[in-house]
Amino acid sequence: MCGIVGYMGKKEAFNILIDALKRLEYRGYDSAGIALWHDRAIEILRRKGKVDDLRVAASGKQLKGTMGLAHTRWATHGIPSERNAHPHKAGEVVVVHNGIIENYMEIKEKLKKRGHRFTSDTDTEVIPHLINSYIEEGMDFVDAVRLTITELEGSYALGIMRQHERTLIAAKKESPLIVGVIDGEAVFASDAPAIIDLTNRFIFLEDNDIVVFKDGGFNVIDIKGNKLERHPQVVNWTGAMAQKGGYKHFMLKEIFEQPRAVADTLMGRVKEEKAQIEFDDLKLPDLKDIRKIWMIACGTSYHACLIGKYIFESTLRIPVETDIASEFRYREPIFDKRDMIILISQSGETADTIAAMKEGKNHGIYTLSICNVLGSTLARESDGVIFTHAGPEIGVASTKAFTTQISVLFMLMAHMGRLLGVMDKDTVRGLIYELKRIPHKMQSILDQASLIEEMARRFMTYKNFLYIGRGINYPSIMEGALKLKEISYIHAEAYAAGEMKHGPIALIDESFPVVALSPHDRTYQKTCSNIEEVLARRGKLLLFTDMPEHDMANRTDSVFIMPTTIYELQPLLSAIPLQLLAYYIANLLGTDVDQPRNLAKSVTVE
Ligand code: G6P
Repeated sequence: MCGIVGYMGKKEAFNILIDALKRLEYRGYDSAGIALWHDRAIEILRRKGKVDDLRVAASGKQLKGTMGLAHTRWATHGIPSERNAHPHKAGEVVVVHNGIIENYMEIKEKLKKRGHRFTSDTDTEVIPHLINSYIEEGMDFVDAVRLTITELEGSYALGIMRQHERTLIAAKKESPLIVGVIDGEAVFASDAPAIIDLTNRFIFLEDNDIVVFKDGGFNVIDIKGNKLERHPQVVNWTGAMAQKGGYKHFMLKEIFEQPRAVADTLMGRVKEEKAQIEFDDLKLPDLKDIRKIWMIACGTSYHACLIGKYIFESTLRIPVETDIASEFRYREPIFDKRDMIILISQSGETADTIAAMKEGKNHGIYTLSICNVLGSTLARESDGVIFTHAGPEIGVASTKAFTTQISVLFMLMAHMGRLLGVMDKDTVRGLIYELKRIPHKMQSILDQASLIEEMARRFMTYKNFLYIGRGINYPSIMEGALKLKEISYIHAEAYAAGEMKHGPIALIDESFPVVALSPHDRTYQKTCSNIEEVLARRGKLLLFTDMPEHDMANRTDSVFIMPTTIYELQPLLSAIPLQLLAYYIANLLGTDVDQPRNLAKSVTVE
């Protein structure tokens, strides 16, 4: 969603800001803008469309300045247009904003009565108006910002400047914002990949922090103006990791990075000799009385939760209840103090997932997050955290984050199995043995990517797809169908294979391809029967299995054979061909694979 960047220093800000905006593109946006401060004048340029459109619009103009703000907007209030794009200016105050101001109508009406004129449909525009009105009343810039913030309800990450002073202010509540620590310069952004080329030392701001940049340094204060101590953390990501490295798209690179990402996530944690899984600094509550585990997330991370349910229930025999984060707290879940909540999020900034964590904490339930981003809100605020080591994921459609999340869930299951005493050492050693072989097996699938590309060529023109699977393969096909929808805009529906005859079978004819995930597991025979039902209606079959002699293999030209593994690890392997199928179809159709229309990488509003 919206991306923010701010810079103040000795260098010309334009290129620094535009380069950072390019790095924020992956978050998803529909317009972009920049404001540059030079000699007590501020110049603003905004465009509907891409950052490159903004860059083109700027060529020929003399955009100068060593201090500035820039923004990519993902429309919430008001259509994507130049007038709704940020920065917004009122009087001498300029603001960029990520988040939603829930009481903006109220503030707007109040200001309108006092003669303020608005030029956009956004919620954001009330912010510069309020700040400017306090400055006009004689208030100092920082105080005007502090007072304004106390009046805002909702979420915000803000970048603010004023014309008559060389000061830059950033503030945050429930939307991500980080400060890059560089001597003599000030830089802040929505996330680390945006400014990783400038520094790898970051302060991850906390809610209600206000940062005042002035004279080559900065202070963090609270809403009352008290000084706060915030310490930088070093992130071991590099600029190169956030680049395409020769691949046509980030998504393709990230699909191919999965063997490494999973190996990195296992590294230092799986001890085959000791038959143990070790997580640094993880303090779980007493598990002896555990009643239920909740697994909560959004999007692809939610599919990891569904897979987690199968992994935990089939091995530990502990009930797992899964929930979509945006649904969770509105249905008044019935908690028990002995429960545990696992929240899964690549970014650690998804607003609904954070809200679900808070709901659990308010009820005194232990919360554990599985996150990919150090310093993210979820990682900081949950009671425990296990990081996936996927590295920066830039493609909007999640791939390597998903498989590393499943890897963590599997490790956690084995860890808890030992703690609970329900697994002996040999069992855990066996699980570790299988897990350690996964990266190699993933690689063997990737080595056959051209077969999937060929399949994609044959199926790229179909308008609808049905995905079917049973047991743990059911959430895997949900994720496969989501990938196809997200990036190719083809309608794809996932159905539990056994449920197909209760509705979707009515759709099947020769124009309707069916992707069947059917490894040789406990669900094999039943799935074969469901595939027969598809073929009997002349449906086109794409079969993904680990069994070369699969009963249905000679009934279609489109078969992909995967390596075998144990039931609980199958999703790690089956994810890859389904990701590749979606990728190649989208690529052949020529869609914007890394930034699909209407989607955002990090959904920071509810
Ligand atoms: C967005 C992204 C998805 C992602 C979901 C949850 O919808 O486009 O790829 O799965 O958010 O994000 P999270 O960062 O919480 O895993």
